[in-house]
Amino acid sequence: MHQSDSANRGTWNSKLGFIMAAAGSAVGLGNIWAFPAKAADNGGAIFLMVYLASCFAIGLPIMIAELVIGRHTKKNPVGAFRTLNGGWFPPLIGFWGLICGVMILSFYLVVAGWTAGYVLEEAFFFAGFPEWATWFGDLENGPKNAIFSVLFMLGTIVVINAGVSNGIERATKVMMPALFLILLAMIGYVLTLPGAMEGVYVYLKPDFSELTGQVVFSALGQSFFSLSLGMGALITYGSYLSKKQNLAESAFYVTITDFSVAFLAGFLVIPAMYVAMGQGIQIFTPDGNLVAGGQLVFQVLPAMFHSMETGAGVLAGVAFFILLGLAAITSTISLLEVPVSYVVDEHGWSRKKAAWTIGGVIAVLSVVISFDTGLIGTIDLVFNSIGLPLGGIMICVFLGYVWKTQNAILELEHGFEGIHGSWFKPVWTVFIKYICPLLIGSVFVTTVYGLFS
Ligand code: PHE
Repeated sequence: MHQSDSANRGTWNSKLGFIMAAAGSAVGLGNIWAFPAKAADNGGAIFLMVYLASCFAIGLPIMIAELVIGRHTKKNPVGAFRTLNGGWFPPLIGFWGLICGVMILSFYLVVAGWTAGYVLEEAFFFAGFPEWATWFGDLENGPKNAIFSVLFMLGTIVVINAGVSNGIERATKVMMPALFLILLAMIGYVLTLPGAMEGVYVYLKPDFSELTGQVVFSALGQSFFSLSLGMGALITYGSYLSKKQNLAESAFYVTITDFSVAFLAGFLVIPAMYVAMGQGIQIFTPDGNLVAGGQLVFQVLPAMFHSMETGAGVLAGVAFFILLGLAAITSTISLLEVPVSYVVDEHGWSRKKAAWTIGGVIAVLSVVISFDTGLIGTIDLVFNSIGLPLGGIMICVFLGYVWKTQNAILELEHGFEGIHGSWFKPVWTVFIKYICPLLIGSVFVTTVYGLFS
């Protein structure tokens, strides 16, 4: 086995650069495509509340755990666990993360491809070519899906090849602020439309009778996916961090950014849903389920853009889907970076060879899914909803009982001088050792048992 010299590994150029890159990994289709649909399907405000709690009480402590493991070992997830403990089991936590990442990326590319298709759908719709618009907007169109998924993979590989600070850091620094601005502008527009306020009400006023085990399971899984946790993306990003960075503070900024984008996306899509209902579009089935399911965003937003019937509609539609595509690419980068860093560190491959080979294999998987989009639900259930929280539990147990929180605290001390006297130290320790694993474990056991029984 080959171990590349850790001095040759990339590093982030600046504190802000890292936060942007990690926030770029976190902010993606999870926030804008998945979150609003899950919120709409699970009672709106009640989902939002459980999601908020899950991001900060479970996601944030685990994000700090991943970063500290990564920075301390300067390794990919498999190598990181192996460095901290010589046993046979710890590296498997890393491998499980690698597998989840590969499978998530394979369907993520297809959904990212949908956003690119919709850029053209909007453009052709307004240019007066409805048949073309329909072709590009058809989510089941296999050849179109395949072309766009592969294009997304190519874009991802190009950025990965450019390296950590030149590629990943530079790309995300521009895309993230742009995304924030366009979301705000669109919310401003939606709120002027008739019916929007009803959506705001559903989104912000909780109905506690809707709180069920399914809501909690869904919100928990969504927080892992959205914060890029449980599969080692942040171990990998942490491995490029300098000792000067305060990991706890950085993780807090990433979590709050990610939560804010999801919150804003819900603020856009749920009111837009009620506007669309007012226009006669069927959103819910008679028994209260979403007609479009996870495809809600692709149903509701184009309807709204089309109803604008002006140049502003094209512009908003095209700009929105371009930005959604850019948000997706900062996430696909982090998904691919995990297996790439593994073969670079552990098997001595060059970055280029690693990116093309692994990227190529995942692109093939995404082509298969392109022709059978029904696979997305199954892969999502196994490798995301179940896979990531499972990874999260293993990371907590490993850090709390194998590597031990005292050792992690010594690493966290770099960049966080006051840690020993602060409330952070006991609170984080209790969350990692007890609260997170127990909470995830209990939600998990009850729901997974329910799923299969
Ligand atoms: N966080 C990304 C999103 O919300 C998806 C992702 C998951 C990225 C896991 C990396 C690792 O879209």
